[in-house]
Amino acid sequence: MTNLRDIRLACIGAGNMAEALVKGLLRAGLSPAQVTVTDVRHERLDYFRSAYGVQAAPDNRAAAKAADVILLAVKPQQMNDVLAELAGATERALFVSIAAGIPTARIERALGAPARVVRVMPNTPALVGAGISALCGGAHAAAADLALAEVLLQAVGQTVRVDEALMDAVTAVSGSGPAYIFRVMEAMEAAAVQHGLPQETARSLVLATVAGAGQLAQSSRRAPSELREQVTSKGGTTEAALKVLNERDIAGAFSDAIAAAVRRARELAG
Ligand SMILES: NC(=O)c1ccc[n+]([C@@H]2O[C@H](COP(=O)([O-])OP(=O)(O)OC[C@H]3O[C@@H](n4cnc5c(N)ncnc54)[C@H](OP(=O)(O)O)[C@@H]3O)[C@@H](O)[C@H]2O)c1
Repeated sequence: MTNLRDIRLACIGAGNMAEALVKGLLRAGLSPAQVTVTDVRHERLDYFRSAYGVQAAPDNRAAAKAADVILLAVKPQQMNDVLAELAGATERALFVSIAAGIPTARIERALGAPARVVRVMPNTPALVGAGISALCGGAHAAAADLALAEVLLQAVGQTVRVDEALMDAVTAVSGSGPAYIFRVMEAMEAAAVQHGLPQETARSLVLATVAGAGQLAQSSRRAPSELREQVTSKGGTTEAALKVLNERDIAGAFSDAIAAAVRRARELAG
């Protein structure tokens, strides 16, 4: 069953990622009648009802019972409570968890075997259909379960499959990654303003530069290092700037930052 039109989806937790996914799925052809979202916040339920026309209710267990696919979209710290509530609620549904750091084995144990679980790490560009999600299956997930999860996530961007052992690294790179790029954008914008550019112009220049560089790198067969070399002429301005970034060990900073995110993902796994 990999046709979107056949599934009933329950989304447990109606936060930011849930919204990105629901929005993308509706855009991809899922009907609002196929989707139920739950949340402890009534204002989020009202919002989903009015913005997307989906069903919205506070009862996680009732939503799970009626669903073919249950998207676990609460914060990792809230997962224990949600899983305890859902244990034994359904034997037929596929569970798709997007929670950072939580292993499929822990979800299976909490739900009671043999729950079919697919773990996914999406990222926030899913909000504009430009996400990338890594997927892996738990002990009882069949090939068709992974294929169905893939179809769901492709509504909001690209997908890749990885071994579960690599999920914390994925979390640190693409899950948290958009924030690293936003940090770089902030720094470039501040520097542009220091050199006299009006704030608005600085922002436009940075936004278009980051988006354009991303698009160029994506559409090119060349590695980022080659693209960098192409625009770095000997004795030129780019070389002068890159020399400073390298002296400040930008590669080391990213290496340490990603290592810290991997460690944190492992801590969240508990
Ligand atoms: N945001 C990202 O960039 C990103 C990227 C990849 C993966 N993820 C994963 O996606 C998941 C959701 O993240 P998010 O940023 O969308 O979080 P979020 O905006 O906080 O959404 C979670 C929602 O679930 C609600 N909730 C809490 N306990 C609940 C319960 N027992 N039953 C039903 N709903 C409950 C929360 O309410 P309260 O606010 O009152 O607690 C909140 O409205 C996380 O596990 C995260 O690791 C996020």
